This record gives sequence, C-alpha cells and structure tokens, in this order.
Amino acid sequence: MFERLHRLQTDPILGLMAAFRADTSPRKVDLGVGVYRDDHGETPVLGCVRRAEEAVLARQSTKSYVSSVGNVGFNQAMERLVFGESHAALSSDRVRTIQAPGGCGALRLGAELIRNAWPDTVIHVSTPTWANHVPLLSGAGLKLERYPYYDPASGGVRFESMLAALETLPAHAVVLLHASCHNPTGADLSEAQWRELLSVIRRRTLLPFIDMAYQGLGSGTAEDAFAIRLFCEELPEVAVAVSCSKNFGLYRERTGCLHVLSDSAKSGDAALSHLVRIARSLYSMPPDHGAAIVHEILGNPALWQEWTGEVGGMRARLTGLRQELVKHLGRACPQRDFHFIAAQRGMFSFLGVDTAQVHALRERHHIYMTDDSRINIGGLRADNLEYFAQAVAQVLG
Ligand code: LMR
Repeated sequence: MFERLHRLQTDPILGLMAAFRADTSPRKVDLGVGVYRDDHGETPVLGCVRRAEEAVLARQSTKSYVSSVGNVGFNQAMERLVFGESHAALSSDRVRTIQAPGGCGALRLGAELIRNAWPDTVIHVSTPTWANHVPLLSGAGLKLERYPYYDPASGGVRFESMLAALETLPAHAVVLLHASCHNPTGADLSEAQWRELLSVIRRRTLLPFIDMAYQGLGSGTAEDAFAIRLFCEELPEVAVAVSCSKNFGLYRERTGCLHVLSDSAKSGDAALSHLVRIARSLYSMPPDHGAAIVHEILGNPALWQEWTGEVGGMRARLTGLRQELVKHLGRACPQRDFHFIAAQRGMFSFLGVDTAQVHALRERHHIYMTDDSRINIGGLRADNLEYFAQAVAQVLG
C-alpha cells in the first residue's frame, strides 16, 4: 500500500532546523525556527517554570486521565490571562475554553469547530501568514483564501487594502488574525486600526479567529491581548487560539488552549460539546504536564510575579536586539533602510532579501533563515550581530 506514496517535501521551518543542526561551523547563526534564545544562544527553562514544575511533581499522586477538555483550572486561569480579570465576556458566561496540544492544536480545534458549524465557509488568512496556518486550517476541510497584509516597501501593514478586501466578504466568512507579533512579518495593527477593523467585521458579520502565540513578547501581556479584549466586548462571536510555547518557554510540552466566545451560554455549551467530540476523535485528551505548570504559575502570586519579570525580560531583549540590529545593518549596508525592523514587534521580521541571497547567506556564511527571508530576531546575540550585518552587506553586494 505505502509504495503508492510519494515522498513529500520537508516542512520549510522544520527542515531548516535539521539543516542548522547538521552544520558543523562554529560561526553558524540560527534565525530559522521561532524559539526564543538568550545571549548565550540557549532556550533556557524559565525559573518560574522550574519552580512550578517541582511543586506540581511533589503534589502529583496519579497519572490517570484528566479529560478531553483538559485541566479546568488551567483553562480558567488562561481565560483570566487572555481576557483580563473582569472582562464582560467572562462575567456573562459566554466564553468556553478547551485545553489544546499547543497553539497548533488550538488552531486545528477551532478550524474543525468552524467546519462543523458552517461547512462551506472560507477562512481568510493574511498575505503572508505563518506557513503552518495553511495545512493546519485547510486540513480541517476549510477552504483558504488570502487578504493583503504586509507592505514590503514600508515594513508596515497595507491597512487600506486589507480593509477593502474584508469589506467584500460574505457573512460568516472567517478572518484569521494575529493578536500581536505577526508571524512572519512582525508588523502589527495599531489600536486605532484594530478599532477600524472591528467595525468592518461587525458590519460584514465576519467571524474573527485570533491566533495569539506571543502574549507578553510584543508590548506587554495586556497590550498584546488588546484586540481580543476589544473584539470580545463588542462582537457576539470570536474564536481565540492561544499558545504557551513562547511566553512560558514550554515548546515541547505542547501547551495551549482555544477560547470560544458565543452569543449565549447555551450556544457556548453546544460549541464546547463539539470541541470535546473533536478532541476525542483527534487525540482524545491533551498532554497534562505543561498545563499543570502554567496553572501553578498563574495561581501563585510569587510565581506569577516571577513569570511577569521573565516574559518582560524576553520582550526587552527582543526590542533591544531590534534596535541594535538596525544600527549594525545601517553601518554595514548604508544603501538600505532597515528602520522598519525597530518599529516591528515580537520574534520575526522579514529581512527583505531575495531567495538567492537567503541561500548565499546559508551557504557562504552559515546563517539560517526561511526562504522568504524571515529572521528570528531572538537568534541574534551581541557576539553575532556584526557578523550577521557584514554577511548581509556581502550578499547585497
Ligand atoms: C515558527 O514560526 O518558527 C514557530 O512558530 C515554530 C513552528 O512550529 O513553526
């Protein structure tokens, strides 16, 4: 049977991870996969995670099943983290949450739920969007289309074109949005733009499906959730996929959740019953360990304080690296303007070089980034910034 299968191309981001590991050069620089790194190039376990993990393990008396909905304490703590303590959507009992195997699991659960509710709807994603959005969402059987988003000339958002495209969508079309730290571009909407977008979404009766994978790494934990909090105050229905991979550094623990805001508690219960059935048919129950750690951190004032400091430290490092990178590139490549990098947020930016130049950076300088020139700012360090800038200058010629 399997002889009928043709070998598929490796996932572009995971393939790059493997190529970087195989490179034996001491000069190699990994700007590929989106993991946060410190100034030693490490992705350390956060201090608050270590302490929470010890507490969880000391208390744990069984490895028996939890449930398809996951850890209810974690789900509730995540609702408070994402929506804010006293959000009207929570007090009116219109939010339902299911734990998910990472942000990817949450995106897939959301897509499956949307397909159950409105099988013929189309999900619209930004141009460009995170490469894995496409298989994750279309794998649920939804048709995908694209709306304009990134403007390479300015490094910002083509906001007027984006709005114009969304204005033409039929009711119940789904719009996938990035809450903050847009992956792969780093270009986010301003608060005023989110408000304008809200009126289009309301007027056209669209469903926003918001992906939040970087809460705290852009401008702050509340600031990065601005759009979610606003939309969930103003709209009847919103879906939110959340990842704890980056902001809690829990990558391999596959920790995340899906929040669904419905127009009533009754519709919320119906949506949750579908989510439980979907989870059961896909993977039955989510892994427990990461969610137990996050639950512990969010429920313990000292650990919460420590986490706020640690996520703030990651954010400050990314912001500082952006500014340093602009300085180094400005000196090495005075013919190009890289200031847009400092105006963007989160882990990623497009360097804005072509595929041949990306390959030259990899082959001649051992610098790894995806073919579209997305760089993980977190992979830069004080001791490789100048090397990187000089290499870019050489390939730009
Ligand atoms: C990325 O965009 O590099 C990260 O979100 C990791 C991944 O799974 O692709």
